[in-house]
Amino acid sequence: MANSRLGELTQWSIKRTKKNLAVVAVCLILIIFSCSLLPDSSPSSIKHTDPLTLHSDYVDLTLLRNAKHKGAFCLDGSLPGYHFKKGFGSGSNNWLLHIEGGGWCDTIASCSLRKATALGSSDHMERQVLFSGILSNDPMQNPDFYTWNKVKIRYCDGASFSGHPESEFHNGTNLFFRGQLIWEALMEELLSLGLSNAKQALLSGCSAGGLATMIHCDDFGELLPKDTTVKCLADASFFLDEKDVSGMLTMRSFYQNVVQLQGLAKSLPKDCVAKMKSSECLFPKEIIKSIKTPFFLVNPAYDSWQILNVLAPAASDPHGNWLRCKNNIHNCNPSEMVILQGFRNSLLNALSDFEKNKEWGMFINSCFIHCQTWLTETWHGPNSPKIDNKSIAESVGDWYFDRETVKRIDCPFPCNPSCFNQNLA
Ligand SMILES: *[C@@H]1O[C@H](CO)[C@@H](O)[C@H](O)[C@H]1NC(C)=O
Ligand SMILES: *[C@@H]1O[C@H](CO)[C@@H](O)[C@H](O)[C@H]1NC(C)=O
Repeated sequence: MANSRLGELTQWSIKRTKKNLAVVAVCLILIIFSCSLLPDSSPSSIKHTDPLTLHSDYVDLTLLRNAKHKGAFCLDGSLPGYHFKKGFGSGSNNWLLHIEGGGWCDTIASCSLRKATALGSSDHMERQVLFSGILSNDPMQNPDFYTWNKVKIRYCDGASFSGHPESEFHNGTNLFFRGQLIWEALMEELLSLGLSNAKQALLSGCSAGGLATMIHCDDFGELLPKDTTVKCLADASFFLDEKDVSGMLTMRSFYQNVVQLQGLAKSLPKDCVAKMKSSECLFPKEIIKSIKTPFFLVNPAYDSWQILNVLAPAASDPHGNWLRCKNNIHNCNPSEMVILQGFRNSLLNALSDFEKNKEWGMFINSCFIHCQTWLTETWHGPNSPKIDNKSIAESVGDWYFDRETVKRIDCPFPCNPSCFNQNLA
């Protein structure tokens, strides 16, 4: 059984690679890096047919009812959506929200492409998605949160729920930049479904959804009663402001474009925007300085999306020297490995202040993968990645319920045999 699940994960990776290749091809036709990549968008494309799926759970898409009068639209003007599974028993008054990821769009051209996908339009969203990993209602897969009310929030604005309509063009491009309004309309609807009575709440997200979690974590806490326990979790979202292998600040210029195109500054931390360029305030190392709510970071030290897009983007590696290493960390040669270890060190440096903060938890495993919380295989199980013999689920639970302080930082690659390292070749 475990093997067939492994097979599925590989298959999924292959699908993703094909998608990435297609996106890269489009990028070449357009302007370099003007096009956003879609790293972690379609978990539901995994076909689940093996016996482990007996506990699996497909949950229907709901379109936001109040979106229209709020003007909260996806990039193409369609209504945003979410999937809601009611909690039960001891979890009836507890709420777990998970924001899906899917990169960003930074130009009219790339947002226009995205408009025709599930990441820009509910017209293209699957009507049902599988709730697995942190969203699972199976105690074996999700020991601490399986009874909770759970919401998977669909991402269709292309700017981590932080765009503003003032930045829209009024010349026929027909793109809606309503991320902040979507966030507000969504919260209003969830509050009316029972979130307003939450005793315990956890806002989480992966990749661009984890970035949205960082941006909105404190606002989320303010919407809830004073005595509610509120915490936030970002998975594979610690995007680094690092030079790529050709010495260019690729990620910084990409974020600059996103911030400018969709007018993100108003949603970013005010104290940051007051003292530096708003595009720099989109980087987690700046956002986290303003977060007051207890926060947990799950992040692989060699995040595969970041290795592919931040460290060694195709445009900065024209001869494809990095291709073998980018596809599989086991193929990296010693000099590439030195660069990857430097990338890990940058992450650990950015987190050093938070290692001392008791309210912060972290699980930084030395694996080559992207999101790990919504996949059963990586969230919790006999073969899931562990540090000090604890799975990600156990670590998050230990932190959420104050069972212990959790600062689990792995030794450098290749020391951890429990990793799920992706093979993108
Ligand atoms: C709309 O305006 C923007 C910014 O001025 C410009 O870049 C874009 O090409 C225009 N689009 C069309 C369809 O005219
Ligand atoms: C690791 O944890 C599992 C389950 O919690 C336990 O059964 C096992 O004995 C532990 N192994 C070690 C080496 O501590």
